[in-house]
Amino acid sequence: MPHPDPRFTGRIGLVTGAGSGLGRDVAAALSAEGARLVLFDRDAAGLAETAAACPGAVTVTGDVAVAADIHRAAQAAAALGPVTLLVTAAGILGPTAPLPQVEEADWDRLFATNVKGTWLALKYALPLMEAAGGGAVVTFASGAGLAGNVTFPAYSASKGAVVLMTKSVALGHVGQGIRANTVCPGPIETPMLALTFASAGNMAAEREAAFRARNPMGRFGRPSEITAAVLFLLSDAAAYINGVALPIDGGKQAG
Ligand SMILES: NC(=O)c1ccc[n+]([C@@H]2O[C@H](COP(=O)([O-])OP(=O)(O)OC[C@H]3O[C@@H](n4cnc5c(N)ncnc54)[C@H](O)[C@@H]3O)[C@@H](O)[C@H]2O)c1
Repeated sequence: MPHPDPRFTGRIGLVTGAGSGLGRDVAAALSAEGARLVLFDRDAAGLAETAAACPGAVTVTGDVAVAADIHRAAQAAAALGPVTLLVTAAGILGPTAPLPQVEEADWDRLFATNVKGTWLALKYALPLMEAAGGGAVVTFASGAGLAGNVTFPAYSASKGAVVLMTKSVALGHVGQGIRANTVCPGPIETPMLALTFASAGNMAAEREAAFRARNPMGRFGRPSEITAAVLFLLSDAAAYINGVALPIDGGKQAG
């Protein structure tokens, strides 16, 4: 059924991490509201599943940490027309260990994906948006990017970098008609959250209960609750919102 009030008709965009979870949900919602998308992920099967819900979408398989891969995705978007939307949802949890126990290779992989991957998407999409006369960016940080985190400190550091990278884009590219905001979800029901609990081994159930208990609403978020905010931030209704790091977490950051 057509969307009753589509906000993105004819808009062209790139969504990274579109093969699962939040990236998939955002892509499907943008598509339902008329956007034409390039869907990027390292998981070809996941991408194909998302593409089935996004009529006219183009899929590009690759690694966000590899410049040539992201460049290919940006070129695929440019081939569709003026690019005015970017969502960077690709990310990994990385090692859930105290910092002294984090292995160098795991640290490097985490930062390559979460930080370099976000930068590369911006590197290739921002010039396209400038050429298009403007656009809107939403990056994916985390509540763990706004406050320290004892369960996954390395992830927290990587998401803190995403917050300030996004704010820098908001300041540095506003003159080109580009707005950039970042979302900072709390625990949201996706495969990554399941991994967060599974990484606690035989303490998985305890970790899940503790996460739930720490949330003011006593529950985890749903992907649609992140997607609603992402689409608002991308839309013209958010024309004066730039450089925001928005917690979407049932109120956890309030305390
Ligand atoms: N789910 C949560 O609780 C939560 C909370 C805060 C922030 N986030 C952030 O939201 C974003 C989406 O997370 P999600 O929960 O949907 O996770 P997810 O694991 O369901 O999806 C992440 C997607 O990113 C892709 N990806 C990972 N590394 C990649 C790489 N190097 N190159 C290309 N694709 C890659 C994966 O294949 C996957 O499709 C992430 O940036 C995550 O850090 C999630």
